[in-house]
Amino acid sequence: MLRRIAASTSTTLRVNGQDLLSFAGTNLLGLGHHPEVLAAAQECLSRCGLSAAASRSTSGNFAEHENLEEALAEFLGLEAALILPSGWLANEAVMQAYGDELDTVLVDADAHTSLWTSTTLTRAQVIDCGASDLTRTHALLDRHGEQHLALLTDGLFPMQRRIAPLAEFLRLLPRKGILLVDDSHGLGFLGQGGRGSLSGAGVSDPRAVMTGSMAKALGAGGGFIASSTGTIERIRRRADAFVGTTPIPPAVAAGARAALQILEREPERVRRLRAHAARLTAIGKRMIQDDAEGRSPVLALPVSDQKAGRALEQKLAAHGLYIPWTEYGGGPGALRVAVSSEHTTRDLERLEEALLQHYQP
Ligand SMILES: Cc1ncc(COP(=O)(O)O)c(C=O)c1O
Repeated sequence: MLRRIAASTSTTLRVNGQDLLSFAGTNLLGLGHHPEVLAAAQECLSRCGLSAAASRSTSGNFAEHENLEEALAEFLGLEAALILPSGWLANEAVMQAYGDELDTVLVDADAHTSLWTSTTLTRAQVIDCGASDLTRTHALLDRHGEQHLALLTDGLFPMQRRIAPLAEFLRLLPRKGILLVDDSHGLGFLGQGGRGSLSGAGVSDPRAVMTGSMAKALGAGGGFIASSTGTIERIRRRADAFVGTTPIPPAVAAGARAALQILEREPERVRRLRAHAARLTAIGKRMIQDDAEGRSPVLALPVSDQKAGRALEQKLAAHGLYIPWTEYGGGPGALRVAVSSEHTTRDLERLEEALLQHYQP
């Protein structure tokens, strides 16, 4: 059963008529409610209407789309960027552009479903290379390294609280290999000023292709790909997910660009998010002993039974908190707790008090 949301702020959701302090979703930096973001979107909405109403190769290419791509590339320190209607399609677009010539695709065991699904778009042999398992990946690369090969991974696995070893992956990757990093969760949290997991790993390499959802740290919607100019050009030409789709509404692109400007101007948001993530780790350690290591703004508290999960949700709602039980995101069912830079210290205290009272591993 899907929950029904009637309204939201950067830290609250109106769920079933009740305004609750939210620890749900991936509203990492509260940018989707920032007045400058809303003003940029509203100005564009009045000027351009609600929809781009056509693919970009016909009459749907607005200045806002191109401006956002330039801003993304510049912020990420990569040569070029391309926006797609969703983060999911961004991963598929990369595979549509490269799948034909690949012989082997290695995929991290915990990679997001959209990365796994993208592998259905290639005839290459698809191999699970374990969960950031360098020994296994090394052995597989020894065996398949002469072939055209791509390695697919998330940059940050939020529920597993794991950061992919991107520097090591690039060190092992053959010269002509591709490292596709879905950084939907790393952007805004890892790397210099929230520039993501490639920045966090201190690597800059033309073999790396970064994708992500703009619905998370940027508080907007849609997806992006960022890489070398050559790679982006190839995807622009070859990927049906780009050529044959209507882009995100120009107003959303305008809002995402404003969000990016705030992210660049206010790195303290990222610092606050990291501090809150550290507090969440400490809370996790109290709840589930040493199982909550790692760096992530998300904590999965295991509750495998749906009935128990929903009952716990209700108890927390009685405390004014919204923390959803979910089976999504890999692994068995869990209470998914996510912090935002916009939570206050008091919000985190309320979280801890309520969990201590009601959660049992
Ligand atoms: C790691 C990851 N990749 C891709 C997606 C899909 O992005 P979008 O919702 O923009 O399609 C998600 C979830 O939203 C995600 O968590």
